[in-house]
Amino acid sequence: MRNLRGVILAGGLGKRLLPLTKITNKHLLPVYDKPMIYYPLTLLVRAGIKDILIVTGGNHAGEFLRLLGNGHEFGLSHIHYAYQEGEGGIAEALGLAQHFAKNSRIAVVLGDNILENGIKEYVDRFRRQKSGARVLLKEVDDPERFGVATLKGRKILAIEEKPKTPKSRYAVTGVYMYDEKVFEIIKSLKPSGRGEFEITDVNNAYIRKNELEFDVLKGWWTDSGTYDSLLRANQLVAEKVKKGSSNG
Ligand code: G1P
Repeated sequence: MRNLRGVILAGGLGKRLLPLTKITNKHLLPVYDKPMIYYPLTLLVRAGIKDILIVTGGNHAGEFLRLLGNGHEFGLSHIHYAYQEGEGGIAEALGLAQHFAKNSRIAVVLGDNILENGIKEYVDRFRRQKSGARVLLKEVDDPERFGVATLKGRKILAIEEKPKTPKSRYAVTGVYMYDEKVFEIIKSLKPSGRGEFEITDVNNAYIRKNELEFDVLKGWWTDSGTYDSLLRANQLVAEKVKKGSSNG
């Protein structure tokens, strides 16, 4: 099967969580019994991805190396790291993975996304996909907080980033799979209204090429970048750990 490399985006200043993020990076904060970054890392490893790059930034980037080292705890022999100097958004951070990706396809996870179950079935589907990109969607009660997909059958017609009046309840989760074209697309992007390069614009570029596939996630999903979602992440993970589930 086609080789896939993994990228975890763990930069940003975590402003929505201040003052929790004043003296550390958001992705090092605890989610129940583990630092947040453990969850996306475990997710990729359990999907069979062994070459992983962590893109981070800000003042506390060195702490990732101290915490994760070469990844032995996760069954890895090494972890790659990249440093995002600016605050240019998720797509800019992903652009830093070009050198690492070489000509492989990539599976990208936002470092603050936590899932109940693994993603192997979706990743394997992407390995078999001819070309293009694949995203994971989840129905939520508060779609206005996310990228929101408008669907027509098996097609995504468009994705809107944090729309005031969402056209559906399908949030685009922070798990993205891209073919080799993604870096050319990133280079062609223009900054959004908030001055950032948006991952939603990358996905819309694939829609225009008619090359964006999707799956709807089974099991719960949450981000953890706000006080309430961080609390929810802690509660969901605690419940899962206490139930003794071992799905990561
Ligand atoms: C980002 C993306 C958004 C996506 C979300 C998932 O938003 O821009 O499209 O739905 O992650 O967690 P952020 O949390 O960075 O505002």
